[in-house]
Amino acid sequence: MPPDAPGGAAHDPLVYLNGAYVPKSAARVSPDDRGFLFGDGVYEVVRAVGGRMVDLDRHLGRLTDGAAALALALDRAGGPAGVRDAWTRLLAANGLDAGEALCYAQLTRGAAPRAHAYPGADTPPTLYAFASRIDPPDVLRARGATAVTYPDLRWARCDLKTVNLLPNVMAKQAAAAAGAFEAVLVRDGVVTEASHSSAFAVAGGVLRTHPLGPRILPGVTRAVVLELAAALGVPAREEAVTLAELRAADEVFVASTTADVMPVVALDGAPVGGGAPGPVSRALAAAMAARLGRPTA
Ligand code: PDD
Repeated sequence: MPPDAPGGAAHDPLVYLNGAYVPKSAARVSPDDRGFLFGDGVYEVVRAVGGRMVDLDRHLGRLTDGAAALALALDRAGGPAGVRDAWTRLLAANGLDAGEALCYAQLTRGAAPRAHAYPGADTPPTLYAFASRIDPPDVLRARGATAVTYPDLRWARCDLKTVNLLPNVMAKQAAAAAGAFEAVLVRDGVVTEASHSSAFAVAGGVLRTHPLGPRILPGVTRAVVLELAAALGVPAREEAVTLAELRAADEVFVASTTADVMPVVALDGAPVGGGAPGPVSRALAAAMAARLGRPTA
């Protein structure tokens, strides 16, 4: 049966759970899982284009670092190589070796009777992974997206990619309610990042984004954007942008594994710059598409 047919792989895809490949409908996680009870886990999202996982080592490195920072036993779940192997098999098994897909993995501290402190070291972690088709927002990219601003309500370790995403969910919901693509997060008057992407502004020809540290996720796409900017000769500074600077910027864009470079042409209903994707955003979006081996910019 073709993967996209009813009842095929897209309908009930094969997923990975704790060493086994099972139809998603048969995957079971304990209600005692600490990911469910406490949000006690980390996750990772990787892009696959034509079956090739993009920047895989950087994503697996971030997963490894996050697991180490939280004493989550990634090694007991097969380590980063186990995650890579699971994604590779899931892409093939689900007919995702061609076209655009994303790979997701989530590692939690496993199932144990509810108590805040970490359970015994003999508690097996939970590792769940899936791969699914995505349809990158190219039409929106061409005309530019809208965004809202929203307070950054998150904790003091935003550098860890944990499954504690409620503030991000609330921010994205505010965007959705306004018919916008993203919510740009503002803390203490400065832009940190966005609900599920990194945020950039261009002012006076200089690209700016918040410096790394505990207030933002070290986005893989963020790093790639800075590399592409250097290659294109666009001056860039890792220096926070104030909300006032954001509103006055010539260009704003967000960037992530799933959205690539997405120009933002209106912020809280007011046009950004000329109200259309600007030259730096367009150049970076094109460079990103070329790097990904994608047909469209
Ligand atoms: N989100 N900042 C936040 C808060 C994010 O959640 C993400 C990614 C990014 C961009 O990181 P990267 O370039 O490594 O994808 C920045 C993923 C895609 C998600 O939660 O689905």
